[in-house]
Amino acid sequence: MLKIRGMNKSFNAGTENEANIFCNFNLDINECETTVILGANGCGKSTLFNIISGVMPCESGEISLDGKKLDGLREHQRSAHIGRVHQNPSLGVSPSLTILENMSLSDKKCSRFGFRKLVKKDQINRYTEMLKTLDLGLENKLNTQVKFLSGGQRQSLSLLMATMKRPDLLLLDEHTAALDPKTSKVVMEKTMELVRKEKITTLMISHNLRDAIKYSDRIIMLDRGKVILDTRSNLISESELIKIYNRQNLLDSDQELEQAV
Ligand SMILES: Nc1ncnc2c1ncn2[C@@H]1O[C@H](COP(=O)(O)OP(=O)(O)OP(=O)(O)O)[C@@H](O)[C@H]1O
Ligand SMILES: [Mg+2]
Repeated sequence: MLKIRGMNKSFNAGTENEANIFCNFNLDINECETTVILGANGCGKSTLFNIISGVMPCESGEISLDGKKLDGLREHQRSAHIGRVHQNPSLGVSPSLTILENMSLSDKKCSRFGFRKLVKKDQINRYTEMLKTLDLGLENKLNTQVKFLSGGQRQSLSLLMATMKRPDLLLLDEHTAALDPKTSKVVMEKTMELVRKEKITTLMISHNLRDAIKYSDRIIMLDRGKVILDTRSNLISESELIKIYNRQNLLDSDQELEQAV
């Protein structure tokens, strides 16, 4: 279980551009569930992922994963427990390395010995079997540099790499947003197949309300650093979610109007 208590995060504190993103923020994410995080652009969803994965610090608060405190652990230490797939297909992979080298790197990310070019035969067989499950023919391109793959192929590889050590938590930040509708569906279906088979606790940011309902167990909506909706996904419809979005937008314009007067 992921537990966040009393988290505070602001940017540019003490300047005219000060932005308080989270103020005394709390969140509990259940084990083995897929939870979708919804919210308007700029409400702090990626910042939340950056804080959880140790990319950026928060001012205060406690974060624990399966009872272990994450505070104080650096990004690479957290990566032993947390897998992440970004919106940008180039971020989760090393484009100038081959598929084989990328997979080997992910496989060894927690080892003390770092990256060695030599990959053993049994590893190659294991990676080949994993790649075959993607059904993209990548098993025949083991020695191809990742920069020569399409966005969908890179995202699928990223997903495989993020889950190959069965993380305690998987963070998906709009990981299908840059893909065409058909590839997006393929990658999303593959994601859920992997997540369900391995029972991986997953937090997924999305702007796709239909996907949110279809693929998750729970939906949380954020607005100005607060949880404004927390529901089981089978208890809400797309039109109800749209209504909540619209209501929040109206609130925003009212407040902007008040501030302008
Ligand atoms: N490193 C940073 N320095 C300053 N401000 C930042 C930084 N990172 C994010 N912000 C600001 O924090 C706010 C939240 O950004 P964030 O990227 O978390 O939004 P988001 O909810 O992921 O939005 P989107 O749906 O567009 O991806 C934005 O106003 C953004 O400009
Ligand atoms: Mg974002």
